[in-house]
Amino acid sequence: MSTIKKMKMQALQKGAAKTTQCAYQRQGDGEKAMKKDGEALRVACLGAGYFARFHYEAWQGLQRVRLVGACDRDLEKARATGFPAFDELKTMLKMARPDLLDIVTPPQTHLAAIRMAIDNGVKALICQKPFCNSIEEAREAVQLAEAAGIPLVVHENFRFQPWYRAIRQALDDKLVGDLLQVTFRLRTGDGQGPEAYLDRQPYFQQMPRLLIHETGVHWIDTFRYLLGEPDAVYADLRKLNPVIAGEDAGYFIFDYPNGARALFDGNRLLDHAAENCRTTLGEALVEGTLGTLSLAGDGSVRLRSFGSTEEKVLLAARKWQGFGGDCVKNLICHVVEGLLDGKPLENEARDYLKVIAIERALYRSDREGMKIREFESA
Ligand SMILES: NC(=O)c1ccc[n+]([C@@H]2O[C@H](COP(=O)([O-])OP(=O)(O)OC[C@H]3O[C@@H](n4cnc5c(N)ncnc54)[C@H](O)[C@@H]3O)[C@@H](O)[C@H]2O)c1
Repeated sequence: MSTIKKMKMQALQKGAAKTTQCAYQRQGDGEKAMKKDGEALRVACLGAGYFARFHYEAWQGLQRVRLVGACDRDLEKARATGFPAFDELKTMLKMARPDLLDIVTPPQTHLAAIRMAIDNGVKALICQKPFCNSIEEAREAVQLAEAAGIPLVVHENFRFQPWYRAIRQALDDKLVGDLLQVTFRLRTGDGQGPEAYLDRQPYFQQMPRLLIHETGVHWIDTFRYLLGEPDAVYADLRKLNPVIAGEDAGYFIFDYPNGARALFDGNRLLDHAAENCRTTLGEALVEGTLGTLSLAGDGSVRLRSFGSTEEKVLLAARKWQGFGGDCVKNLICHVVEGLLDGKPLENEARDYLKVIAIERALYRSDREGMKIREFESA
């Protein structure tokens, strides 16, 4: 870690050390309601659309954090959060003086927001995926943050879902022996007909790249979390619903140097057995020489030993509060602990460039109909 980065982290740690509780009380417009607290980690969010709600809910439940601003170019949406509301990022940065900006707007806004936040003294950044508009922009964002000595974490939340943490633990405990195959079947069931996606994320219909760029990207990262970096990738993608612009079905395969493989098999028109198809978005198998782990649509994880028909529950199904097993909150807590307690951060933007490079290789593989072994350097 650079000296500047260490100094900024120490400053953050010192500033929040006295704080034990989120002291913030909800108030009206930010410009009228700014109030000194001086002790908590001051957090502001950019964006108040569909997904931002999970961020606001997560932040407000945290100790050692004070949510000091909500910004959306649609001021009514920002006001609806109940937090000090702004419609201009620059104004929010100047008035609310956040230590951390959490960016929950679409990729087109990311680089400009990161630059503006750094120029206005923010000490840490989280940014939603898909991260920036292009790999060039993503690299520029990484360079800006590194030059300023500021941690920049990509909000890649699926690896923080409790079932993948349970699977990672089972792998570390060698419960399946040598890992040979990971399969995830994405079956969201929300992609049929002319109304597909309109009720929740209408922008899905216009995205020129949908299945992998918007959603499958979570498993590029999750497969890396479970198996490490692939040495070759292959993809075969389809558009099944004619009303949308991008692809909504297809496969990708990761090859690993030891012969293991990971398969993502996605189809947004099909569903899976779950009360809520958005809990896990599908089902997984993690297979090794000594046993198989299975992830069901209710978020439960089971272990079946090789040669047996019995299953042992490693993670029971339960009602989770937030999105996807509370993974937004889990990621945010992870970042707070990284900043305030010095724990190592996962998904820093420089590392995330590998995810973007793999995603590009997948689209290239689909275009050219061949396995890709050389990824551009991240
Ligand atoms: N990690 C996940 O699990 C997950 C899930 C859903 C969405 N997302 C991502 O989160 C991001 C937002 O998605 P969403 O569904 O909330 O989108 P949305 O369209 O519902 O909301 C985006 C909001 O950003 C605001 N906005 C856009 N440009 C702005 C600007 N320059 N300044 C201020 N406000 C601006 C819009 O007014 C809108 O309210 C996307 O990148 C999406 O891919 C991530």
